[in-house]
Amino acid sequence: MNFWVLLLLSVFLLEVQNGVSQETKNKKDANFRPGRKKGKGRYPKVKDKEVGGKLQSILTQVLEKGRFLRLSDHTILNSGKTLELRCKGSKIGWAYPSYLDTFNDTRFSIEQNDKFSQLTLKSPSPADTGEYSCWVILCDGDECEKDTDRTSTSYIYFTDKDELFVPSPIHFEIVFMRPDIPATVPCRVTSPKTTVSLHREMPPEEIQADGKLISYNPTKGFILQSPSLEYTGAFYCKAKSTTKTTPQVSNKYQLLYLEVPSGPPYATIQASSILVTGGDLFNITCTVLGEPEIDVKFIWTYPGQDQRPVIIQDSRRLINRGVGQIVRISQSVMIVDDVETIDFGTYICTAKNPHGETSVATQVNLLSH
Ligand SMILES: *[C@@H]1O[C@H](CO)[C@@H](O)[C@H](O)[C@H]1NC(C)=O
Ligand SMILES: *[C@@H]1O[C@H](CO)[C@@H](O)[C@H](O)[C@H]1NC(C)=O
Repeated sequence: MNFWVLLLLSVFLLEVQNGVSQETKNKKDANFRPGRKKGKGRYPKVKDKEVGGKLQSILTQVLEKGRFLRLSDHTILNSGKTLELRCKGSKIGWAYPSYLDTFNDTRFSIEQNDKFSQLTLKSPSPADTGEYSCWVILCDGDECEKDTDRTSTSYIYFTDKDELFVPSPIHFEIVFMRPDIPATVPCRVTSPKTTVSLHREMPPEEIQADGKLISYNPTKGFILQSPSLEYTGAFYCKAKSTTKTTPQVSNKYQLLYLEVPSGPPYATIQASSILVTGGDLFNITCTVLGEPEIDVKFIWTYPGQDQRPVIIQDSRRLINRGVGQIVRISQSVMIVDDVETIDFGTYICTAKNPHGETSVATQVNLLSH
C-alpha cells in the first residue's frame, strides 16, 4: 500500500513538472497549420527589434525553404509533422516538457551552431503538448547566467482529432489539495478550442466552473482556488470538440485533502529511556508529520558530539490517515550504545524543511541507585 502511494506520488510529481507553465503576456495567437498555403515573404526574416518597448520573441519555428515563423505565447500545430525550433545566439538554453528528458527520447535533439541553437522533435504527438522556451546565456569568463530579457516561451499544442486530452501514462492520478493554495486537476487539452467540463464520480455530478472559484485553463487544467474537504474523491474531465461527435473522458484523478498547512516541520522527540547507567543502550527518536512531498532533514546536537560514534537512522514513509488525507512521517533515530559519562545531558533534534526549522530536546541522565 505504501509503495503504491509512493509510486503514484512520484509519477504525480513528474506530471506536475510537465504541466508547469508560465503566465503569458501576449494574447495574440500564432495559429499556423503546416498544410495552409503560404504567400511569398509572408514570414519575414527574423531580426531583433522592439515592438512597443518589448523585445520580440527570439523563438522561431523553422518552416520550409528557409522561412521562419516567430512564435508568440501560444502555438497550435498538427501532431505528426517534425517540429524544428530555432533561437538566435551562440549560447542558448532550452526548456521543454520534462518527460522528454526522463524517457531519453530519441525523437528529440538539440544542436548548438555558431549563430543559433536548434531543437528538433520528430513525429510530435499530443503528449508533447507543453511549454517550450529558449534564452540567451550570457557569460563573463566562466560565470554564465540566463538573460531574462532575451527569453521567449511558447506553449505548443499538438492537436489531434482523436486525442482531445494530452495523454498521460498514469491512469489514476493523485491531486493533493491544501487549505492555503489552489489545486489543479491536470486535464490539459490538445487544442485550446476544446470545451471541457469537470465531473465527480460518486455521486455522479458535474462540477460547475464559475471562472472564479473553479476555472479552466487549457494549459493547466481545472484550477480550484480554495480547495476544501468537499472536493475529496474521484473526478474526471470530459471534452467536447467540434470535430468529434462523442465526448472524450480523461484519466481519473483522486483528489486528497491535506490539513497540515505549509510551515516549519512539526517535530516531536522521545527517548527510549531518560535514566540510564553506564554500559546501557538507548535510542532517541525524532518524528515529523508533514506534507507528502516536502522533504525533511534532521540535524542532531548531543553531549558526546565529535567524541564518540553514534548510529543515526533516517527514514520516511507515507501513511493514509483516512478521509483522503495522506501524511509523511519522517523519522531520525539516534542509537547510543555502551553509555559512558560523556553521554549524559541534552539531546537536540533540529528538523528542517523549505519553510523553516524546529528544534526539540530531551534529557538523558544517570540513573542513581
Ligand atoms: C540516453 O541516450 C543516450 C544516447 O542514445 C545514451 O548514451 C544514454 O546512456 C541514455 N541514457 C539513459 C539513462 O538511458
Ligand atoms: C529504540 O529502543 C526501543 C526500546 O528499547 C526499541 O523498542 C526500538 O526498537 C529501538 N529502535 C531502534 C531503531 O533501535
